[in-house]
Amino acid sequence: GAEADLAGRHVVVSAGGTREPLDPVRFLGNRSSGKQGYALARTAAARGARVTLIAANAALPDPAGVDVVPVGTAVQLREAVLKAAADADAVVMAAAVADFRPATYAAGKIKKKDGLEPEPITLVRNPDILAEIAGDRPRAGQVVVGFAAETDDVLANGRAKLERKGCDLLVVNEVGERKTFGAEENEAVVLGSDGSETPVPHGPKEALADIVWNLVSRRLA
Ligand code: C5P
Repeated sequence: GAEADLAGRHVVVSAGGTREPLDPVRFLGNRSSGKQGYALARTAAARGARVTLIAANAALPDPAGVDVVPVGTAVQLREAVLKAAADADAVVMAAAVADFRPATYAAGKIKKKDGLEPEPITLVRNPDILAEIAGDRPRAGQVVVGFAAETDDVLANGRAKLERKGCDLLVVNEVGERKTFGAEENEAVVLGSDGSETPVPHGPKEALADIVWNLVSRRLA
């Protein structure tokens, strides 16, 4: 899509993986590199969109011409996405958001105590940002896209997740050892709330990004 089919549009993309701190030096995190989200941001900008990229802990260079908002935790990601989504035509949640965070944060480094077993870590639920935005669109007609990494029954689990989250499109990919996380390439199926299934063959993350924007662009038209 070299044509500027997204000119005049504002799109919000989340990328990377949230980190949920336990103390000043430790966190619970995940293996998301941010590459897919950055590819989505770059391709949207190339197609003429104004792009806000909410970047959670991604060690990647800022894409040219993209407004990058760095965040750490899921709660911070939610604030930043909701703020940017207020006037957005599309929101694409490519970030790996922690489902849970530690219930408490220790202001000082947690220390081991001689002869004592460690304290268990209690987790609490994080807000589900995708479900929140999809269920109560900040802007009418906004297109909301989610990502889902599944290890088994990819299509059935993906279809159930699309419905549960209430989004318009869900990009489902199979993950496992050596697959997807940190890789340059991806393979996926994009499920639509209209029942559509768009297979995306193994290829660069930019190619998947362009297919996502094709489907978004069609829904905005
Ligand atoms: O439920 P699951 O984590 O598999 O859903 C993945 C999708 O939901 C991704 O698009 C992710 O960005 C989004 N998500 C979210 N808030 C959460 C968990 C996931 O927006 N707390």
